Amino acid sequence: MTNKFYITTPIYYPSGSPHIGHCYTTVACDVVSRYKRARGFDVLFLTGTDEHGQKIEDKAAAAGLAPQAYADQIVEEFKKLWTFMNISYDRFVRTTDDYHIKTVQYVFEELYKRGYIYKGQYTGKYCKPCESFWTDSQLVDGKCPDCGREVVETSEEAYFFKLSEFSDRLKALLESGTFLEPESRVKEMVNNFIKTGLEDVCVSRTSFKWGVPVNFDEKHVVYVWVDALSNYISALGYHNDTYSDFDKYWPADIHVMAKEIVRFHSLVWPAMLMALDLPLPKKIYAHGWIVMGDKKMSKSLGNVVDPFILGKRYGIDALRYEILREMPYAGDSFFSTELFLQRINTDLANNLGNLVSRSVSMVAKYFDGTLSAERQAEELDADLINLAKELPSKVEERIDDFHLCEALDLIQSLVSRANKYIDETTPWTLAKSPEMKIRLATVLYNLLETIRICAIMLEPFMPESMKEVLSRIGASGEETSWNSVHEFGVLSRTTTVRAGDPIFPRINIEEEQKFLLADAC
Ligand code: ME8
Ligand code: MG
Repeated sequence: MTNKFYITTPIYYPSGSPHIGHCYTTVACDVVSRYKRARGFDVLFLTGTDEHGQKIEDKAAAAGLAPQAYADQIVEEFKKLWTFMNISYDRFVRTTDDYHIKTVQYVFEELYKRGYIYKGQYTGKYCKPCESFWTDSQLVDGKCPDCGREVVETSEEAYFFKLSEFSDRLKALLESGTFLEPESRVKEMVNNFIKTGLEDVCVSRTSFKWGVPVNFDEKHVVYVWVDALSNYISALGYHNDTYSDFDKYWPADIHVMAKEIVRFHSLVWPAMLMALDLPLPKKIYAHGWIVMGDKKMSKSLGNVVDPFILGKRYGIDALRYEILREMPYAGDSFFSTELFLQRINTDLANNLGNLVSRSVSMVAKYFDGTLSAERQAEELDADLINLAKELPSKVEERIDDFHLCEALDLIQSLVSRANKYIDETTPWTLAKSPEMKIRLATVLYNLLETIRICAIMLEPFMPESMKEVLSRIGASGEETSWNSVHEFGVLSRTTTVRAGDPIFPRINIEEEQKFLLADAC
């Protein structure tokens, strides 16, 4: 039986155009999905959009559109961006899809029947941009503690979910094992929410209409977070007929998101599942934010962050690489075009691209493109070969644990080691003496084999360009499979290479900055 792997992004609000921040989570999940598929897992990669709520209703009204028409437009933009970014999602759930609505209505009614939802009166503060309820004591300077914006006084009849009943179980869950990562988030949840006393959450609204109606009390619509969180099971066909693989894929292996919505995923969602007697997701991973700084200042620095503009000019793979490369596991990252362009030059053009073009062109030049079969090893080779043998299991460990930036770092260290091997072995000197031909073939083979291993490990990150690299060194079939990365010497001894233009051309940073300022903004 093959192992399954179910991974999800948050479902994004179509309240504005998608940006580089949304790209981070989606690309990260794409990398892990591709990696898991390469390792033989039966992967379900889910993304989607969260279309109900007061915020969307207000935005649509401001745009002079019905909420559905407004959402439709922006959902198209999200889908276009994911296609553009080469995202291999398997399903796209929209909370306005009929099957999803069916699941939400079932979940709400079931929680009510089981006594976990009751009717009461809500009085307190509401933050529309966050779709969050707050008590006075939770506000910071009278503003939303999450986003710092104004909150509004709300008082209405509402249903409540008995979150308070789950305090002890949630605390035990969070403090045991690795349910929520990174570790710092656990302390935050326990100290800021559980220790101060978990309150029941308001789970319905009557003051607006754009939501899933509570089927046994139609003047209420289901609170957006109960609606939204249910996407993770509606998209598997939980109490709807559109899909039928809930038993196969649930529980999720990992829900990925940024830190501001951990609260909903690590408290409300597990409590809902406990109340429904369903298994809990195995892991919640909350990464940091891509911080773009002050807009004006960014613009004067040539800080274009439109993924369409950047991807078109510098390549999707370079953009995918950059947003992952800068994000530490447990911190925030910064995005600027200057950093991006520098990174293309250092990591992609000078290190990786250079290794590929030097190696391939030497095989083309000294062997007419096809390596000869005899070998003559030297002690000097051991260091490179050992590193190439050691690295893959470490990279696997990092990707399995979502330490994507560290995985890239490790792979780049092997690329650098291979470039150093060229300087150590000076193939151009070997090429001068015919009696060194066998040694020369050995050196070039070791380079191609190292490239092969790096390219396979980088393929989930940069699918198209790594396919091209593998094809240039003449690797095909089993030689390009993830299984084969643990072995050195898999590539055919008499492989035929294909030279070509640089895979990652060097960039003139100053000129590009000017271009971006003049043409793109
Ligand atoms: O919260 N850096 O939707 P949302 C990193 N609909 N990640 C970022 C980011 C940034 N600057 N900006 C956005 C919602 N993200 C709810 C979710 S799930 C059941 C419901 C990513 O459109 C990150 O994953 O506000 C973050 O958690 C998510 O987009 C928020 O998207
Ligand atoms: Mg948000």
